[in-house]
Amino acid sequence: MRGVEDMRRSYDVFFASSNRHKYAEVRDILEKFQIRAGFFKFNPVEIQSDSISDIARQKVIDAYEKCKMPVIVEDVGLYITSLNGFPGPYSSFVFKTIGNKGIVRLLGKNRNAEFLSVVAFYDGKKRPRLFEGRVRGKIAKRLEPGGWGYDPIFIPRGKDKAYAQLDDKNSVSHRYKALAKFATYMLQSSDR
Ligand code: IMP
Repeated sequence: MRGVEDMRRSYDVFFASSNRHKYAEVRDILEKFQIRAGFFKFNPVEIQSDSISDIARQKVIDAYEKCKMPVIVEDVGLYITSLNGFPGPYSSFVFKTIGNKGIVRLLGKNRNAEFLSVVAFYDGKKRPRLFEGRVRGKIAKRLEPGGWGYDPIFIPRGKDKAYAQLDDKNSVSHRYKALAKFATYMLQSSDR
């Protein structure tokens, strides 16, 4: 078994999550910036808040307490314009309950939506740092095959296909935008 010191040396930062789909994307995106991200399996106790930033901030402190290595977490919300921003911080719950089919059915003419990713970083020093990535788009009229989560129904602006069908999701997504900001911060920080 590899020791903690080996793990520390092999990776620049850990991504704490229970979602391996997300980790695969995070790892591929950060690789573009020569940052090596390890996976730290973590089932967070989520605080109730209507701000995904507050949720991410609390979660990364919790994750750091468990892994004791520089760590990032990510929280995501899908904000649908005609539903006044719902489901937003409740996106996970809505996905589990009514799912993509339910959302597609719920919407009328105005199908505008925005994906927001908040990446929180903490290394035990100072305070957690937060990085946001937003992508505007619309909700498809029917599900497109492939992807995970809301990928089959979210069409980013400027594209004619949903995330599920895009080859370049990891270069345009809300996650990419938040992680690109994090990468810039990390590469500039003198700790590396
Ligand atoms: P969470 O913050 O990871 O819990 O994400 C909230 C909800 O958004 C979950 O249902 C996720 O499956 C979904 N989600 C997060 N990121 C993506 C994505 O990149 N594509 C599609 N769905 C996503």
